[in-house]
Amino acid sequence: MTPRDPEDTSPARTGTAPTAPTAPTGTAARASAPAASEASPPSFHEMWRDLAPLGRDPGSGGYRRYAWTAADTDCRAWFRAQAEARGLVHELDRNGNQWAWLGDPLAGDAVVTGSHLDSVPDGGAFDGPLGVVSSFAALDELRRRGARFTRPVAITNFGDEEGARFGLACVGSRLTAGRLTAAKAQELRDGDGVPLPRAMEAAGHDPSAIGPDPERLARIGAFIELHVEQGRALDLSGDPVGIASAIWPHGRWRFDFHGEANHAGTTRLADRRDPMLTYAETVLAARREAELAGALATFGKVSVEPNGVNAIPSLVRGWLDSRAADQSALDTVVAGIESAARAHADRAGIELRVVRESFTPVVEFEHALRDELGKILGQRPGARSAVPVLGTGAGHDAGILSGSIPTAMLFVRNPTGVSHSPAEYAAEDDCVAGILALADVLEGLACT
Ligand code: GLV
Ligand code: MN
Ligand code: MN
Repeated sequence: MTPRDPEDTSPARTGTAPTAPTAPTGTAARASAPAASEASPPSFHEMWRDLAPLGRDPGSGGYRRYAWTAADTDCRAWFRAQAEARGLVHELDRNGNQWAWLGDPLAGDAVVTGSHLDSVPDGGAFDGPLGVVSSFAALDELRRRGARFTRPVAITNFGDEEGARFGLACVGSRLTAGRLTAAKAQELRDGDGVPLPRAMEAAGHDPSAIGPDPERLARIGAFIELHVEQGRALDLSGDPVGIASAIWPHGRWRFDFHGEANHAGTTRLADRRDPMLTYAETVLAARREAELAGALATFGKVSVEPNGVNAIPSLVRGWLDSRAADQSALDTVVAGIESAARAHADRAGIELRVVRESFTPVVEFEHALRDELGKILGQRPGARSAVPVLGTGAGHDAGILSGSIPTAMLFVRNPTGVSHSPAEYAAEDDCVAGILALADVLEGLACT
């Protein structure tokens, strides 16, 4: 696929920048705007244009912004430049999350907004970056309005949200919230066996202090994450922006199928112990079990040893991602898949090991904050009805942090619902609507 010009803004099936939203125009300026830097900060379009080429694979058009790689470093430099262009205080915390502060970071009761800049393999342009870019744009909008800030505000870029490199999602927020211990994080390795601390060091981050950061969390009064919707609920309801109600419980399980390596051209079918067959039967069972339980189950990653065309594999390793609206459906589907895999493995003389690599329980976003967002957005001039409230099967840093601090999420319409793909998209008008909604929410929470 031919790479596109990052300024080519049509909603085509590549990882291109969204169309440039016209800068949201502020309400009449009020007195005492907070100090902004001299020059006007980069517009939404400029931010998007500068971010668009970073970590994009020219072949697929998708993003490969994996934690602590060169692409990640480039995205972090972009974030820092955005903070500095606005006179915000840039801070890198012990877990590698970035913060851009307006006001005193130590004052407490801060209102924080942001998302992540890393991606899944060949991810889209919007999952994560839309939230970060919109946060800077919303702050610019508030400054244009001359809003008077009564609470500190920060914009964040949480590190390693997707878990594409080390297999565990939301490492930055999990460490901060104490949902991942430093000892466990130190054991994480990428596909080449590089431990997380070495990867951090190689990217210039000191890993010696990683771990819980309760003092930081205690200084945050609310965290709001804006995110592109990863489904079509808003498209179907005809709304540009929605509020999150809950995140489904979800997890990742590694299935190791050990068989016997042998010659593909000389080993009789009856004599084989081929783990690929058991893996294939397990993939089919996953689909069946998910349908029965009304859940989701996906084998999206597989590795094969020795990975030779003319060799029966000795090991097939497949990763199951499973999610469901409630815990009992999730338990049922995963137990059903594991039991089918064991039955097939036993019949074929395959040794099976199943390891749960990560798990996130159901998240119900705090009702008080969610209702406050609904009220703020419902009272806007021209608001035609209540803002839709929707659940999602996708994981987010907001979900991890919700166990420690009040969190809420805003979703921006995705007309196709496609995500984790270069075809992920949100229209220009909807990006603007998201920025203005976020600005209104921040104004309602952090300004007089
Ligand atoms: C993250 O986007 C996830 O839901 O896996
Ligand atoms: Mn994602
Ligand atoms: Mn995301």
